[in-house]
Amino acid sequence: MLNTPEGVTLINHPLIKHKLTIMRKKDTPSFLFRMLLKEISLLMGYEVTRSLPVQQVEVETPITTMQSPKLKGRKMCIFSILRAGEGLAQGLLDLIPSAKVGHVGLYRDPNDLHAVEYYFKSPAHLEERFCLVVDPMLATGNSAITALDRIKRAGARDITFLCLLAAPEGIAALRKAHPDVEIYTAAIDEKLNEKSYIVPGLGDAGDRIFGTL
Ligand code: URA
Repeated sequence: MLNTPEGVTLINHPLIKHKLTIMRKKDTPSFLFRMLLKEISLLMGYEVTRSLPVQQVEVETPITTMQSPKLKGRKMCIFSILRAGEGLAQGLLDLIPSAKVGHVGLYRDPNDLHAVEYYFKSPAHLEERFCLVVDPMLATGNSAITALDRIKRAGARDITFLCLLAAPEGIAALRKAHPDVEIYTAAIDEKLNEKSYIVPGLGDAGDRIFGTL
C-alpha cells in the first residue's frame, strides 16, 4: 500500500494490477468484468479493514479457555452508491458477511449535471459504525460528495471511501469537500475527458458490470 501525495491510499498489489488490466480491455465481457471486480473487492477489502479495532474475548477451545481477538463494536456498514457500487459491495459482503448494507441512489441532472438523490436506505446507529462507501469510479467526485453529504446527515462519522479507479480531479474535489474521509483506490488515472469519463479508464463501469452497453 502507498500513501500518495494526493492524500489517497493506493492499494497497488500485483494481483489487483493484473486483474484491473483485464477489466480495462474493451472486449472483456460483462461476466468476466464482474468476476474480476468481485475478486479485486476481496483484495481491497482486506486492506481497507486492516485497522478495524478488535477486543479480547474469552473462547473455549477443545483444549482450554483463552483470550482471543474479535472485531469490536457495532457491525460495519457498506454503503453502495447505485448502481455501479453494487459491483464492489457484493464481494465485500462475501468477505464481511455480517456487515450491514446501505444504498444511495443518485442520478445526474441533465441540465447542470449535479447529482440528485432518488433513493436512500441506511441501517440504524450509523454514528457507531465504520462506514465504507463504495463506487468503482471516482471521476468528477460529484456523486461521491453528494453521497457522503447524505450519509453524514444520517449520522455517520467514521467513513472511508473505496473505489477502483480515480481521476486526479475527483480526488481533489472529494478531499476538499470531505477532508475527514479516507480514500482508497487501486489506480489513479491521468484525467477526465470532456464527457467526464476517466482517461484511460475502463468506460462506464455500470454498463460494463450489468451488460447494458
Ligand atoms: N463513471 C464511469 O462509470 N466511468 C467513468 O469513466 C467515469 C464515471
